[in-house]
Amino acid sequence: MRAIQAMRAGGPDVLRSVDLPDPTPGPGELLVKTAAAGINFVDTYRRGGMYPMPFPHIPGSEGAGVVVALGDGVTDWAAGATIAWSDCPASYAELVRVPAARALRIPDGVGLDVAAALPLQGLTAHYLATSTYPVRAGDTILVHAGAGGVGLLLTQLAVARGARVITTVSTAEKERLSRDAGAAEVIRYDLLGNLTADLPPLVRDIAGGGLPVVYDGVGRSTFDASLACLRPRGLMVLFGASSGPVPPFDIQRLNAGGSLYLTRPTLGDYTVTTEELRGRAEELFAAVVAGTLTVRIGSRFPLAEARAAHEALEGRATTGKTILEVG
Ligand SMILES: NC(=O)c1ccc[n+]([C@@H]2O[C@H](COP(=O)([O-])OP(=O)(O)OC[C@H]3O[C@@H](n4cnc5c(N)ncnc54)[C@H](OP(=O)(O)O)[C@@H]3O)[C@@H](O)[C@H]2O)c1
Repeated sequence: MRAIQAMRAGGPDVLRSVDLPDPTPGPGELLVKTAAAGINFVDTYRRGGMYPMPFPHIPGSEGAGVVVALGDGVTDWAAGATIAWSDCPASYAELVRVPAARALRIPDGVGLDVAAALPLQGLTAHYLATSTYPVRAGDTILVHAGAGGVGLLLTQLAVARGARVITTVSTAEKERLSRDAGAAEVIRYDLLGNLTADLPPLVRDIAGGGLPVVYDGVGRSTFDASLACLRPRGLMVLFGASSGPVPPFDIQRLNAGGSLYLTRPTLGDYTVTTEELRGRAEELFAAVVAGTLTVRIGSRFPLAEARAAHEALEGRATTGKTILEVG
């Protein structure tokens, strides 16, 4: 099969298109012919060495495709079924092994490209808005990188729950997309002289005070400003590091900020059981079918051009989801 490998820890240039032996499904696994694979920021952390990985490795953990073979003991799926997945390693490949218990059914009317684009960022937006902090009607909340993959989905889910959403973005085009997703106020944080000093008063002015929650997937460049946007007992949700990891943190800052809470959640802890995983996925797919959740695929690359896809994502040149078209 054709696949992409990260040959060593480094920049996007360590990604190579290679021929590898076809995998075979182990017990309880499906072998899937990939139609499309999702690109996610975590793939870049793993490629770059921020998260420890063996090298070479095939990046990616998300995709959608057609089941072509069943491992021993699989009784609830058949060859020919179309499935999606969000947490299976080695997904930038023509063939992927997916544990049957983690496979997600794709409802009629949802294309394989959208099915590949939704799971990881969609499940993330879902657990952030419903479980990490259950967004309530009347809340005013802040979502950084509002035109990103998670940002567009989280904005839509929070607005559907009755929140007023403030977002940050870095371009006029991203501002338009964020407003289309339902953001009430969009702040061009690239235009602020000093983000840490200038963002909190702006947000507080818009909101009429501090916020109950800030969703921050940007990390290093926004973290201090995010903390300063919270009201007493507010929740800082640091869920990513697209601008780099946040340095070590003095816990007394939570006290000084007004008995604040800080969490660093990760998707695996909110999709532990098959029931929880599929429950969230079913709600997301149902919203797509109903037309109440829009999945924007902003960029598509052929499998062999994974390097360019990583360059675009890390270079802030993408909006919504980026996928690799594989089969
Ligand atoms: N914890 C979890 O469970 C979980 C799961 C999925 C994703 N995540 C995290 O969520 C965040 C968003 O992921 P995503 O896949 O949806 O990515 P994304 O938001 O589509 O892309 C990242 C965005 O971050 C913003 N950004 C700000 N400073 C940046 C910088 N120095 N370099 C690159 N980007 C910068 C850019 O938007 P602007 O140009 O508008 O600033 C960029 O488009 C990532 O941190 C990711 O790791 C966490």
